[in-house]
Amino acid sequence: MRVTRRILVYGGQDSWRTDDGIEVMARGALPPRSRAVCDCSPATSGALDPPAGTLAASACESPRPGLIRGGGSRRVLGMASLEALTMPLEEAMRTQRAIRRLKPDPVDDDLVLRLLELAQKAPTGSNLQNWEFVVVKDRAVKAKLARLNRMAWSLYGTLGRWLAGGDPKNERALDAVQWQADHFEEIPVVIVACLRAIIPPWPPIAVTTAYGSIYPSVQNLLLAARAAGLGAALITLPLWSRFLARWTLGLPWNVTPCAVVPLGWPRGRYGPTTRRPVEEVVSLDRYGNRAFLERRSRPREG
Ligand SMILES: Cc1cc2nc3c(=O)[nH]c(=O)nc-3n(C[C@H](O)[C@H](O)[C@H](O)COP(=O)(O)O)c2cc1C
Repeated sequence: MRVTRRILVYGGQDSWRTDDGIEVMARGALPPRSRAVCDCSPATSGALDPPAGTLAASACESPRPGLIRGGGSRRVLGMASLEALTMPLEEAMRTQRAIRRLKPDPVDDDLVLRLLELAQKAPTGSNLQNWEFVVVKDRAVKAKLARLNRMAWSLYGTLGRWLAGGDPKNERALDAVQWQADHFEEIPVVIVACLRAIIPPWPPIAVTTAYGSIYPSVQNLLLAARAAGLGAALITLPLWSRFLARWTLGLPWNVTPCAVVPLGWPRGRYGPTTRRPVEEVVSLDRYGNRAFLERRSRPREG
């Protein structure tokens, strides 16, 4: 019987154990601190069935950290993709920005799942944890989403250009949106964040709780993507028709698509983003009491 196991292997060891207790031996050595995912199959035809069997990692020679070379069935991962996401939180938050120009290079499934696992650390109303994420990699499905995106963009973009009034900063942002619309099918991964719920139009508390149960996870996803070195953006244009979006993704009637995050390795650079000074958007005790603005204009003591 042919047994295949997919495992995460670490450098600095010569054997590892899979979740179901199978010992995996390395044929070569992985450099210390490197990691990779191996698809391991029995080394000999007489290999024992799990859980007692011993499998051999098909090749574990790494010419440089994070890349495994040699025969056998396995995937190659960039080092950063399986490293812990150790970027300081403030740096990730300050530099996370909408990155729409993405390379077509693939993004490893394990990394995508890891980001979505972190996305799931977000709060949900009544702790329902009713997220549903559709990871779209199929070009045909992406093409359908691309069409929906372009339909909405043809209207919104015309309006946007008119409102931008030739302002170079706004024009640059609109160029990026246009690029995304033109290259949507080439984006390696498009994640559609959905809620297993029917979002009612009323009362307001139900509406806010519903959307408030998906957007925190989307923000987690954006930050995790930033920390992993991936480019991402939060968009909703492809969802302008809930009916068509549901039909495109095969969503049941009780699963609502809420946000779309195209994901890939960035062509451009990250932030910092431009935002208004915090004191201009914060009121003290009552709306409009911009008490913190005064503090800002005061010379600092010491
Ligand atoms: C709910 C929501 C929907 C959005 N929809 C779109 C969209 O469909 N297309 C798009 O290009 N940007 C969309 N944006 C805007 C971008 O995600 C981003 O916030 C904006 O361009 C600012 O970019 P920055 O963070 O790099 O400054 C949306 C943002 C939000 C919060």
